[in-house]
Amino acid sequence: MKIKNILVTGGCGFVGSNISIFLKKNLKNSRIHSMDNLSRKGSKLNYKRLLKYGIKNYKYDISLYNLVRKLPKFDLIIDCCAEPSVETSRLEIDRVVNTNFIGTLNILKKIKKDKAKIIFLSSSRVYSINEINKFVKYKKNLKNKLFINKPIDLKFDVLQPKSIYGLTKLASEMLIEEFSYAFNLKYIINRCGVISGPWQFGKQDQGFVSLWIWKHIIKKKLNYIGYGGYGNQVRDVLHINDLCDLIKIQVNKFEKINNKTFCVGGGNTSNTSLIQLTKICQKVTGNKIPIKKIKKTSIYDVPYFITDNKLVKEYYDWKPKKKIIDIVKDTYNWLIKYQKQISKII
Ligand SMILES: NC(=O)c1ccc[n+]([C@@H]2O[C@H](COP(=O)([O-])OP(=O)(O)OC[C@H]3O[C@@H](n4cnc5c(N)ncnc54)[C@H](O)[C@@H]3O)[C@@H](O)[C@H]2O)c1
Repeated sequence: MKIKNILVTGGCGFVGSNISIFLKKNLKNSRIHSMDNLSRKGSKLNYKRLLKYGIKNYKYDISLYNLVRKLPKFDLIIDCCAEPSVETSRLEIDRVVNTNFIGTLNILKKIKKDKAKIIFLSSSRVYSINEINKFVKYKKNLKNKLFINKPIDLKFDVLQPKSIYGLTKLASEMLIEEFSYAFNLKYIINRCGVISGPWQFGKQDQGFVSLWIWKHIIKKKLNYIGYGGYGNQVRDVLHINDLCDLIKIQVNKFEKINNKTFCVGGGNTSNTSLIQLTKICQKVTGNKIPIKKIKKTSIYDVPYFITDNKLVKEYYDWKPKKKIIDIVKDTYNWLIKYQKQISKII
């Protein structure tokens, strides 16, 4: 069956807007629609971008099935709708569970009704915080201390606490698998590490790469929070364009490759510690800003995450092309181009 009608939920968010526009440009035989309640700061700006490309947005709340069921019939839903902040997830539990988990349930009910398929954007935050803490090793020299170990794959522990955000993503993954088992629904789950690039409106607790570059541009201070305040936490960072490439391949190959979960991230190609990111930002922006050390570590922080992309490479011959320096440069160029509008938002 041809995939003609595609709905991107969270289509006015960072990931959803980039995927919507990329697919609109690159899948000539498909119609792309978005569903987003425009609650995230910056989503209204993304909404205007979608309109320029002729992409309609349904301004519905994903947690309300009486709205979701009113959507037209789609062949595929790419689910990019969530409250993606780990810290917010313990402050606004009801909203996060309703959006991230009940939202997935509503999308699955709609998919069952339409006999459609789903590509779900999950997260590396499904893994147990304690196990990551135990897994991580340190480079000896204290001053240049860096958290290191091998990339993490699907076999890593998910059974212990992982944050309420992480739980909503893991529970959504499991619900998708149950719907697949019971109702023969076809799915792809992408468990993504940090994603970054243009059109990400970064905050302290979500979208740190974009925030880091922005603060360097406007010469305002930042904080290294946790793990003694040294800035040694390591994350892999995937360029949004690399993710868009993968989604396009997954849509085109859906009939052949489905009912699988993949780990997807910058991996060994693109990763950074906060301190390394600062150096890159200094080089790209030409600015140096004060960075305060805050020693206390959040119960939800992890010192390290690097994705093992082996499975996704094996199935799709895909791997990330862009390195962290490319991500910083591309995001910097976007922030500079739209500086006036962005300064009103973040
Ligand atoms: N950004 C990352 O680093 C990252 C990493 C791993 C996984 N993910 C996942 O990717 C997806 C997209 O993340 P993002 O970074 O684009 O986040 P985002 O906040 O930029 O986008 C989410 C969009 O969903 C919308 N939304 C929120 N609550 C809603 C509701 N109740 N009803 C309808 N719309 C609602 C927001 O307005 C926003 O535009 C999420 O599922 C997230 O868990 C993101």
